[in-house]
Amino acid sequence: MTPGRLRLGVNIDHVATIRNARGGDHPDPVRAAEIVAMCGGDGITAHLREDRRHIRDADLARIQAATGLPLNLEMAATEEMLEIALRHKPHAACIVPERREERTTEGGLDAAGQHNRLYPMVQRLLDADIRVSLFIAPDVRQIDAALRLGAPVVELHTGEYAHATGEAQLAELARLTDMAALAARNGIEPHAGHGLTYDNVQPVAGIAELAELNIGHYLIGEAVFVGLETAVVRMRELMDAARRSHGAG
Ligand code: PXP
Repeated sequence: MTPGRLRLGVNIDHVATIRNARGGDHPDPVRAAEIVAMCGGDGITAHLREDRRHIRDADLARIQAATGLPLNLEMAATEEMLEIALRHKPHAACIVPERREERTTEGGLDAAGQHNRLYPMVQRLLDADIRVSLFIAPDVRQIDAALRLGAPVVELHTGEYAHATGEAQLAELARLTDMAALAARNGIEPHAGHGLTYDNVQPVAGIAELAELNIGHYLIGEAVFVGLETAVVRMRELMDAARRSHGAG
């Protein structure tokens, strides 16, 4: 298959992490969203966590108003978050598992084990014209579950791939490739993200069926040294080069 253009969604959570460290309003994630829009990012991703450790409620409307880019709201499957999503109507809602004590989203959503709880939530989001994405491990059971839930998008968790090395990393890449193809064959748009860096992004970007990568922590970290624009442009170049070498125009 000839791959199409791969979208880059930039997760700006950690701009808010730095802001919150001092309790003021600098650096403002809205300014980060504006820079992403200016330098070729295709979307803004933000995770409103239950403990509000980075993005806060008041940020959402400001981020939405700041640029014309689509907002992908990452959210836990709770009534509180559902109500917030329905009020803000982001372009997309990515349902993620969330544990209070975790440092970041550590594993994929157990869409297979939580069908009955997730189904009404997915339907209410879809009824509100919000594109639903499920953040899942690259696993056949979870793709099957996403199909049964009627989710139009899955985001494949690349954390295991990012942490692995050598043969184990190649095996994880093969799983991501197979599951992206399986999702696409079944009419689900596959995305991927978590733990992606300049060093590991290209094999993932080369997976033809993937339509979007969501990348945050590494880009914000790089931005400290080179600026956000340079970091986003570099990531975009690496993604485009990987796509070209896999046959896209
Ligand atoms: N996609 C999802 C669903 C996530 O939860 C995260 C982390 O918040 C990311 C992508 C971005 O991961 P990273 O910050 O490691 O690039």
